[in-house]
Amino acid sequence: MTGERDGRGRPTRLIHPLRRASHEFQSLATPTYRASTVLFDKLADVGEDRRNEDQYRYGLHGTPTTRELAARIAEMEGAAKVQIVPSGLAAITLVYWTFCKQGDHVLVPTTAYGPNGWIGRFLKRFGVEAETYDPLIGGGIADLIRDNTSLIWCESPGSITMEIQDVPAIAAAAHARGALVALDNTYSAGVLFDAFGHGADIAVQALTKYPAGHADLLLGSASARDPVLADRLASTRFHMGIGVSPADCSLALRGLMTFDLRLRHVEQAALDIANWLKARPEVAKVLHPALPDCAGHDIWKRDFTGSSGVFSFVVQDWDWPTIERFIDSLELFKIGYSWAGPVSIALAYPDLRRPSPEEGPRLIRLNIGFEDVDDLKADLAQAFEKVA
Ligand SMILES: Cc1ncc(COP(=O)(O)O)c(C=O)c1O
Repeated sequence: MTGERDGRGRPTRLIHPLRRASHEFQSLATPTYRASTVLFDKLADVGEDRRNEDQYRYGLHGTPTTRELAARIAEMEGAAKVQIVPSGLAAITLVYWTFCKQGDHVLVPTTAYGPNGWIGRFLKRFGVEAETYDPLIGGGIADLIRDNTSLIWCESPGSITMEIQDVPAIAAAAHARGALVALDNTYSAGVLFDAFGHGADIAVQALTKYPAGHADLLLGSASARDPVLADRLASTRFHMGIGVSPADCSLALRGLMTFDLRLRHVEQAALDIANWLKARPEVAKVLHPALPDCAGHDIWKRDFTGSSGVFSFVVQDWDWPTIERFIDSLELFKIGYSWAGPVSIALAYPDLRRPSPEEGPRLIRLNIGFEDVDDLKADLAQAFEKVA
């Protein structure tokens, strides 16, 4: 404690040092600003408005790293403001907490990402009724909208079975009855489909997927173009005390630098492999938005600017043990949930009842990663041969 030349003890000096490195520095990486406490120069600067978003006030509500990520996603999506949350699923849930109240009715496509599809069981406890609908219903959704319908979800393409939805038609019907439309725009990574331009009021993304891009972190975003709706999302996130790791945000910001290259690579690679699969005798259907087997393919051509790296195919008349043998025989394709990372992934679903009860258990979903495309085809070919 003693012997320090400025008369202050070592514990104090370790916290309030005399010598510091210069902070005059620029690099290409966004610094990871960690904080719970945020400092003010003078007491007068603290002010009263704890929700003032123009100011950094407390780590939970944003540091330059987390706000940089929010600003970048807002720019890519054309949103007024973006809330960054700990996962894609947290973004979905934030939308419910923000726009639903007791007594409301919500509509969710049967093809929604699993935990959103079955959220009705959870929402029931809060007096919100969730009803599922056929993703291909288009403007026919008008018949399902009730006076208390507050929110209609879209997810296009649908999870696993890839149905493309007529979002503009659904939005027109929703808006005619005062309901909001929320879109899970994860497949499009916020860029292959213009959510707000096609009538969605709220867009969510699992940033876990293409923005982060390396299968090593979880983050989500919820955004709106209308500043009033965007402020409501911000207010809910604030009151629920939802914050995110600046370290994860800085990795996602790094991911954004290669985002476009990765997306363009997997688009070409997935299309190549999808077309190759289509020519295989073992394959009955390829459910890829850019191919005609995919329900809603014409809407994809009308509304999307590209496709990404996840798609499914249905094999001929294989039983489940054959599907298992096929997937277990793959060497480069790994087995696991999620997609959009560098490693190719294959998964099948014994209880799936879509696109039909017969086809569901014969469906295999692929995530195309960054491996050599010919090696991936060779891997699939050797697995086909093993089960022949
Ligand atoms: C379409 C879609 N939305 C949302 C999510 C949820 O994202 P997260 O894993 O970050 O919660 C996923 C994850 O698989 C997804 O595929």
